[in-house]
Amino acid sequence: MKITVAGAGNVGLVTAVCFAEAGHQVTCLDTQKEKIEMLEKGHTPFFEPGLEPLLEKNLASGQLRFSTNPKQAYRGAEIIFIAVGTPEKKDGSVDLSYIYIASYHIAENIENDVIVCTKSTVPVGTNDIIKQILQHRKPRHLNVDVVSNPEFLREGSAIRDFYLGDRIIIGADNPKAASIMEQLYLPFQIPIVVTDTRSAEMIKYASNAFLATKISFINEIANLCEKVGANIDEVSFGMGMDKRIGLNYLQPGIGYGGSCFPKDTKALVQLAGNVLHPFELLESVIKVNQQQHSLLVRKAKERFGSLKGKKAAVLGLAFKPETDDIREAVSLTIIKELLGEGSFVSAYDPIAIPNAHKLLGNSIEYSTTIREAVKGADFAVIATEWDQIKHLPLDTYTAYMKEPIIFDGRNCYSLKDIQRYPITYVSIGRPTIANVAHTPQH
Ligand code: UGA
Repeated sequence: MKITVAGAGNVGLVTAVCFAEAGHQVTCLDTQKEKIEMLEKGHTPFFEPGLEPLLEKNLASGQLRFSTNPKQAYRGAEIIFIAVGTPEKKDGSVDLSYIYIASYHIAENIENDVIVCTKSTVPVGTNDIIKQILQHRKPRHLNVDVVSNPEFLREGSAIRDFYLGDRIIIGADNPKAASIMEQLYLPFQIPIVVTDTRSAEMIKYASNAFLATKISFINEIANLCEKVGANIDEVSFGMGMDKRIGLNYLQPGIGYGGSCFPKDTKALVQLAGNVLHPFELLESVIKVNQQQHSLLVRKAKERFGSLKGKKAAVLGLAFKPETDDIREAVSLTIIKELLGEGSFVSAYDPIAIPNAHKLLGNSIEYSTTIREAVKGADFAVIATEWDQIKHLPLDTYTAYMKEPIIFDGRNCYSLKDIQRYPITYVSIGRPTIANVAHTPQH
């Protein structure tokens, strides 16, 4: 089929590349000229495992092309995916201006019947507005259907999620449009759920909000474990083995971040408020998450009294491993608080340093090795569970730090392993290990 994807961000680009790889003729449109030029040369503007090779392959075969020109991009398209950004406004609601601009451009440039399919995460009812815009502005003789097709792609495993997701949601009020969308997804052999448009929009928010709720719940249990002398690793495993609960999203830590959960939970609270339904549970989930972001700095302050003049090594800047995305990364809150306390920060990340530098400038030092970051540090804070951090020989801390004190926000190490080293180790929901210096028993 001839497909056009509006927006070359994390969702749009993965969608465009993956449909091209599946044999469709795809055009990806974006307003940023520099980004499109970069993509035309086969380079992705962000890191996503496996994306760049697939991009190069489909550019070379001619299955995929890029454009900044709506007229050119929408000409002849049979399905148009809207995957533009839906940023958060100051009050927590969603800024839909890019969605509306894309809808205007579509209406003004299509030359044949088309299905317009929304992938961006949009509040319930938005697809009805998109439909109205298209109906008002499109050429009269053309037929345009609007379908909601939310995405469930995790950054860092987006390609896998695209081809091997748990379900495809198709929200359509016209059965014919739903059936065309089903045909498009059929080859992936993923269960397809067809709903009305508003339910599809709600499924996306409810799914992200539920996962966020699981995370805040396990973090509260972890905080409780510390107080009553239980171990969250064992508790979370024991809970998750119950198939009704499941092991996923029960990893305790310093809270969720990224461009989706924080934004979508706030948007759902707003959406509920708009219809006079206070969503108290989700408000608590958000509050617990915010408190969790500050947990490690609070613990460091408790231990040291004052953090003024201390050197802190912050390990991991990306909001999670396998991405260079630092949007709403917990590392940023931690760094801001540490700088506010008068500490010096030396940060390590394998790939997110350029993005962090754009935001933090020279307010901190950057290190491309963990060894360099922890050298002479008074304490280390682990913010992202990169493999490089998880598999670091623990004697790196004892050899290079002023004093080997680790505040681990992602429970990267087993307490058994830590116990073999003269390390003070504070993690989430587990007993603190305070080993006095002795010769490590390798
Ligand atoms: C999330 C959803 O998982 C996707 O299904 C959805 O499509 C996407 O948002 C979106 O709305 O576009 P993503 O934000 O890429 O994907 O990342 P996740 O892997 O879900 O992690 C989100 C945050 O939760 C991270 O900060 C992660 O560290 C944290 N997390 C995750 C935990 O703290 N504990 C866990 O057990 C799992």
